[in-house]
Amino acid sequence: MNKVRITSRPFLKGLDGSPTFLYRLTNSSGAYVEITSLGASIVSIVVPDRNGKLTDVALSYATSDGFLNSDCYFGASVGRVAGRIAHGKFTLNDKEYSLAINNGVNALHGGIRSFSRRTWNASITPSGLKMSLVSPDGEEGYPGTLKVSITFSFSEDNALLIDYKAITSEDTLVNLTNHTYFSLSGEESNSILDNELQIEASRYIEVDKDMVPTVSKSVIGTPFDFTHFKEIGRDIFENNAQLNIAHGYDHSFILNESKTAYAYSKKTGIMLTCKTTYPILHLYTSNFVNVPLGKHHHAYSLYSGFCLETQLYNDAINHPEWPSVVLRKGELYHHQTLFKFSAK
Ligand code: BGC
Repeated sequence: MNKVRITSRPFLKGLDGSPTFLYRLTNSSGAYVEITSLGASIVSIVVPDRNGKLTDVALSYATSDGFLNSDCYFGASVGRVAGRIAHGKFTLNDKEYSLAINNGVNALHGGIRSFSRRTWNASITPSGLKMSLVSPDGEEGYPGTLKVSITFSFSEDNALLIDYKAITSEDTLVNLTNHTYFSLSGEESNSILDNELQIEASRYIEVDKDMVPTVSKSVIGTPFDFTHFKEIGRDIFENNAQLNIAHGYDHSFILNESKTAYAYSKKTGIMLTCKTTYPILHLYTSNFVNVPLGKHHHAYSLYSGFCLETQLYNDAINHPEWPSVVLRKGELYHHQTLFKFSAK
């Protein structure tokens, strides 16, 4: 029997003043995850440190304005297409499409009225908290009516499972992710430079000056080598062309077969194990974060969190050599990512 309890309470105002709710999934040890229908966003992940002290390891906002207007996407469910589409342009079934440009010269994270800013329908199901929405045909320039559901479940052993499903009325592009900023020394610590990371990936993808993905390269001998545990801050300030463009890590890693990554804080002993069905882990180290009104009204700045955005390849629609992000009419889009927390 699932011992995890789900409770809810009214939360901040969403888009167009819509009411939103905050759901708490608590296991019998008292550890919990909070998720709001505002952007289907993860608001808190509260898990024990090595001394059993409950510690919040996820960044979030204090206000509606943060959720609706910030470019950080704290905790958000991102879609229809996570990451960048170069110049917001693509061709599908011989037809050209133009998307809204919302990041330099590119389309980023689903556009202006992206899934991250919508109020989702929430329901409590036997498998967990299910968030769903319908994205109308033509929304943000994408073809096809897309029905999306994301189910979040939390287990007795502190594992948060995110299960993504989508179907479409016409061929379209789909690449859903979650944009949680983790900070394993505690969200109020405001620095992840001492958090260690191991990513089971031997290749990463370089970007051009506009942050558009170009080619994959071996991580060996570069600051992108996370094949063994390494502090995020160890190489981040190296004079490396790719780090200079992105002002830190903001790059896709092509996961090896195990599709696993680990993160660890020596300070709290909290270990995060990430396992996914997706081929890519996009590492982002808060290179532009400046949020004066973060959760509990404290500020977050540069390098205050790291995102492990599991997803399909960025801009794959313009890279035929990479696995496709096209969802065909009649197909089911289905991916899962597990974030499991332990302490040692
Ligand atoms: C992108 C970054 C962006 C961040 C917040 C990441 O997924 O790759 O370039 O700044 O999201 O919007």
